[in-house]
Amino acid sequence: MTAPWRLSVRSERSSEEREQLLETLRDLPSQLAELRREFGEFRQEFRVFRDLFLSTRQDLWERARTRWKQDEPDTSLTWGARWTGDAFLDLVCSRYQFSHTTRILEVGPGYGRLLDALLSRSLPFQNYLGIDLSESRVQRLKQKYAHDARIQFVVDDVEKFSCAPVDLAISSATFSHLFPNFLAAMASLRRSLKTGAVVCFDVSEGGGGGFQDDGVTFGRSYGQDEIRTLFDGSNFGDLYLDHVEHGRDGVTHKPVAMLFVSCKRLR
Ligand SMILES: C[S@@+](CC[C@H](N)C(=O)[O-])C[C@H]1O[C@@H](n2cnc3c(N)ncnc32)[C@H](O)[C@@H]1O
Repeated sequence: MTAPWRLSVRSERSSEEREQLLETLRDLPSQLAELRREFGEFRQEFRVFRDLFLSTRQDLWERARTRWKQDEPDTSLTWGARWTGDAFLDLVCSRYQFSHTTRILEVGPGYGRLLDALLSRSLPFQNYLGIDLSESRVQRLKQKYAHDARIQFVVDDVEKFSCAPVDLAISSATFSHLFPNFLAAMASLRRSLKTGAVVCFDVSEGGGGGFQDDGVTFGRSYGQDEIRTLFDGSNFGDLYLDHVEHGRDGVTHKPVAMLFVSCKRLR
């Protein structure tokens, strides 16, 4: 027979153990969530390394364009929701004075939200040219704005494109998708900018990047210091950084803010 003092010690220990076990069980969901998050990060990093080791730079450059050459619902171009271009245009207007001689180039107009904002404010301009990788989007945009002779669209790649020099180049939610970064786009854009022309674009803020789970969407985010370093000693000056809050994410309903960058072609 078990001595009574032994029973009491045992039952005290087992209730402590039960408490510890319950504590561990209570923690389990958050530990699992943490493990899942870490695994997701590891998988993403693994993909970046695999992509870098197994592909040539040219492969990756092409791959980063696969999605954009195709078609998709308008909302999936802007975080699953339809946004206006007002917040972006507010910042453009703080950096550039529109006039009846303004020639505008937009890179990646998508469904035309920046142009809609521009037209709804009746801002003056001489002409507007939108270039986009997607033939379907360009067709739709041509139809949508066919009534306005100042507005034109072409299918092209910002890194290969050039046109008669413009006064203002704008681009939203596009430069973060350029592989491996936006420097080639800036070098190419320079050919189509008058000296003193203003460029306004935005990028995701942060650091790092890579291909998303679909294997074709390249995304890169930039830190403010990194942007300053990239522009240091370049042909662009008058660098201005700000934040632009476009709208809400269609799934999480959280506000989506991006880093707004403006500069001028110096030479
Ligand atoms: C995420 S969507 C943003 C659309 C629009 N700017 C907006 O903010 O509502 C990116 C757009 O840029 C276009 N694009 C991506 N890479 C491009 C490139 N290298 N040259 C021209 N257009 C590009 C895509 O086809 C798409 O229309």
